[in-house]
Amino acid sequence: MCHNELMVISLTSKKGGCGKTTSAIHLSALLARHGKTLLIDMDDAKHSISWKARGGEQLPFTVTDYGGSLRLARSHEHFVIDQKGGLTGDGIIDAYNDADVLVVPAIVEMMTLESMLQTADAIKTVDPTLAKLRALFVQTTPHNKRLVEEARREIEELGVKTIRQTVRHTEDFKHAVNSGKLASNMGKYGRLGWYDYERVFDELRLAAPAGAL
Ligand SMILES: Nc1ncnc2c1ncn2[C@@H]1O[C@H](COP(=O)(O)OP(=O)(O)O)[C@@H](O)[C@H]1O
Ligand SMILES: [Mg+2]
Repeated sequence: MCHNELMVISLTSKKGGCGKTTSAIHLSALLARHGKTLLIDMDDAKHSISWKARGGEQLPFTVTDYGGSLRLARSHEHFVIDQKGGLTGDGIIDAYNDADVLVVPAIVEMMTLESMLQTADAIKTVDPTLAKLRALFVQTTPHNKRLVEEARREIEELGVKTIRQTVRHTEDFKHAVNSGKLASNMGKYGRLGWYDYERVFDELRLAAPAGAL
């Protein structure tokens, strides 16, 4: 594995409860395989920080708020940013500019094309190709599979690329939050959820510009 350049993965979504923090935690663990990783929790709810506080050394990366990140950045190679909920306009543009890849997790039943369109429109003012933007379907089940594929087509028609790999719904992700661990430590289904994030991460590496990881 090459480990020459830093990588910044940023997560944003209009609504809360879409899987931002869960994705930030699991992608941080995957990025940590490539170098020291700092998860910066920008959300007021500070759920990434409390997850790490419960898990401590079991999680192979550092979590901090924005203030702490100024000091800690120097001693870390890779960064994941759990963005503030409900960013609009300039907030989204800043998040996009600062990232190698900006991930928008979405639960198909909660997702609206309207909010995806607003995100895309904001970013198009700085990058009409939306090169670093990726939508990620989470909490997928055999039941919503068809809905996910329909939503994928609609989103891609807006010019937004989607990550092929989806992240399945499993209660093990909830157990992981409560114990401050990763889903991979939770049992059979959690392990499958972890494998989903592994494949998501591989796609993100390809999405990032040449030089990053
Ligand atoms: N793949 C998943 N399967 C089942 N539950 C999930 C999954 N991903 C997240 N959750 C749960 O959904 C809720 C919201 O997820 P979270 O990552 O905290 O979202 P956000 O940070 O966007 O508010 C949490 O209770 C979390 O445990
Ligand atoms: Mg959160």
